[in-house]
Amino acid sequence: MYMKYTSLLILLCTFFACKVDPSLVANDGHGHTHYNLNIPPGLPVMKIPADNPMTVEGISLGRKLFYDNILSANNTMNCGSCHQLNNYFIDGNKALSVGIDNIAGTRNSMPLFNIGYSTSFFWDGGAKDLESQVLGPITNPIELHETLENVISKLQNHPEYPTLFKKAFGSDIVSSKHIMQAIAQFERTLLSADSKFDKWKRNEVTLSDAENRGMLVYTDPNKGDCTHCHSFGSTFTDFEFRNTGLDSIPVDKGRALITLNSLDEGKFKTPTLRNIALTAPYMHDGRFTNLQQCIEHYNKNFRYTKNLAPELKTAVKYRMTEQDVTDLVAFLETLTDTTFIHNPNFDKP
Ligand code: HEC
Ligand code: HEC
Repeated sequence: MYMKYTSLLILLCTFFACKVDPSLVANDGHGHTHYNLNIPPGLPVMKIPADNPMTVEGISLGRKLFYDNILSANNTMNCGSCHQLNNYFIDGNKALSVGIDNIAGTRNSMPLFNIGYSTSFFWDGGAKDLESQVLGPITNPIELHETLENVISKLQNHPEYPTLFKKAFGSDIVSSKHIMQAIAQFERTLLSADSKFDKWKRNEVTLSDAENRGMLVYTDPNKGDCTHCHSFGSTFTDFEFRNTGLDSIPVDKGRALITLNSLDEGKFKTPTLRNIALTAPYMHDGRFTNLQQCIEHYNKNFRYTKNLAPELKTAVKYRMTEQDVTDLVAFLETLTDTTFIHNPNFDKP
């Protein structure tokens, strides 16, 4: 029987030049199929929590939940409503996300690719791990505005979900823990590292003169100095919290809302710059609509506010020429990975 299927597969593969997915490794004996996360060359090894190993069944359940309106109070929205695959998992071009009651929040949606590397979640780092992050949007009154009890009861009474939870976690009793774990497993599969920059690193393409000059502006401590925070080369962020002088007196206190430390006022999580050309508007409140504005912020418009990042305190204003800004934009555009948004495994099942 097994042999028959294998030979059929090989036969099909000869015709369609397909590969047997190496991420699918044998069943672990408990009915779960271990999932081997295939990390592309441009990204580091990912730490997977020991108590939430990735399985084919867990990821598949997480993906279904991510896109299911059942998670919202009035069954009209899901995670994918504000994190859209064709927009690199941000919310179209909305500055502030709008939830089920048509009320806007105070922050810009965040992209979810390479999220498994992040060391904290939300602009203020209010969630410590990807698992516990999941409950935030479900119960947030201006997002999905649902209670956990309701979500659990809706899932428990659903014709398919109890079986899917059983397949993924060995129990058909739906629990918040397993909801969180399944969605986190799916989120960890969302890897993006096939941009022109990655192809250049793999010696597959060359960069234009403008792109090369822009890369130097990015890394030069006396020019862009972007590297300092948006670490060059892999995730393009160090995930640290910083005040970049957007406001003299921060309207949103950011990190301080979590730590209750006034030295953290106006600090926000440093976002990745991968796919940045296609994830406008920018900053925690979506105040900038294009990359030039972002760069000019660092070049001349930042404010000398309390808690301003030391790198900016000492930065000379107008240190980048108009040519530097144009070149830097050209470099940032090389960080776009167009294959990512076409990956069928990331889309609504
Ligand atoms: C109404 C729109 C909306 C919905 C629905 C929504 N999100 Fe979000 N998401 C946001 C916004 C806005 C932020 C930034 C919030 C903040 O910093 O306070 C965010 C942040 C996140 C982050 C943190 C990313 C990072 O880099 O730190 C993750 C992960 C995430 N959402 C996953 C989810 C999941 C999973 C769901 C479904 C259970 C979901 N979101 C539903 C709008 C939404
Ligand atoms: C001192 C650390 C630091 C430096 C230096 C820095 N950034 Fe940032 N960057 C941040 C932080 C923190 C944010 C988020 C700020 C916020 O929303 O309040 C950010 C946000 C951004 C955003 C918006 C991202 C998004 O998803 O909304 C862009 C674009 C950006 N930076 C580009 C650059 C460029 C280009 C450079 C170099 C000229 C640079 N940054 C230098 C820390 C830094």
